[in-house]
Amino acid sequence: MIILAIESSCDETACAIVKDGWQVLSNVISSQIGIHQATQGVVPEVAARAHVEKVQIVFDEAINQSGLSLSEVDAIAVTAGPGMLTSLMVGINFASTLAWINKKPLIAVDHIHGHILSTGLEVDPKIDIIEFPVAVLSVSGGHNDLYLVHDYNKYELLGETTDDAAGEAYDKAAKMLGLEYPGGPSISKWAMHGNPMAFELPKPVLKKGYEFSFSGLKTAFSRQIEVLGGITKLSEQQKSDLAASFQYTVNYVLSYKLLKAADEFRCKEIHLVGGVSANLDLREKALKGVSKAKFRFPKEISFCTDNAAMIARAAYFIDKSKWLKPGEVPKVLSW
Ligand code: KG4
Ligand code: ZN
Repeated sequence: MIILAIESSCDETACAIVKDGWQVLSNVISSQIGIHQATQGVVPEVAARAHVEKVQIVFDEAINQSGLSLSEVDAIAVTAGPGMLTSLMVGINFASTLAWINKKPLIAVDHIHGHILSTGLEVDPKIDIIEFPVAVLSVSGGHNDLYLVHDYNKYELLGETTDDAAGEAYDKAAKMLGLEYPGGPSISKWAMHGNPMAFELPKPVLKKGYEFSFSGLKTAFSRQIEVLGGITKLSEQQKSDLAASFQYTVNYVLSYKLLKAADEFRCKEIHLVGGVSANLDLREKALKGVSKAKFRFPKEISFCTDNAAMIARAAYFIDKSKWLKPGEVPKVLSW
């Protein structure tokens, strides 16, 4: 089965075509990073406007790259949330119209379901089958969730953040250090030359079940910068040490909880997904604690951050009884 998916929940306008839930025929992503650098974060109205400008372009390119024509596509999938309402509506409007005009079924997909299944993209299930249960940590700028996944379509939330997501904390910490947006890649770049033990930062709610909390850490980080005399007084080495200490602390908490869940629920596999799963230090930390379970992260960096290939894959596992009728509009799940 061939599914074309549209994703527009946050700041990436994306379109992908995926065969049988794993083979990526095209995966086109138009990132708005450049636009949001000026504000060091996403302004919803600005993001929505950029989606309107790009959605047709990414669709045309996804069709071209796949070498298929739209008539060969069996169904259209679209992210129905969670995300920013105005951004989601652009993708939903486009996908519903496309499905309606071309008489294709429409499949509404939960963005998080896409992230959860992103580790299976470009993995041939005839050769390498995912074994359940799986402990999945999905971390990005907007969400920070730990799931126990029982099957392709059956997942249980063990815990989430009570305030900020780790990606958001990375973005804010980078802003405090005057580094480029998005903060995650900037912090890890600076952390390479720093000492992770230079500053001791709090590890919030470490021993408290599967909940996460990063706002206290953000405050402590800001105080540490003040103690050192403020951002203008920081040496290059201090910036690197601060970045390394921040990265060490966030990743310690994330990997600690992921491995604890894997152990408690005797998981056969451990998966790390979402934008923050691109962080190499986090991958190493999580992998170090893995004993018998198989450790996976998305095969490509473009499958970690928001993309439509993961949405097409998630749609593949949605029962046909849940596909929408022609003209039916998906119910939007906004943040
Ligand atoms: O999944 P995603 O593209 O969008 C959301 O759904 O939010 O994730 C973006 C987030 C940003 O907060 C970004 O700073 C973070 O993922 N990120 C990273 C890295 N690459 C992206 N965080 C830490 N280390 C990275 N290498
Ligand atoms: Zn996401």
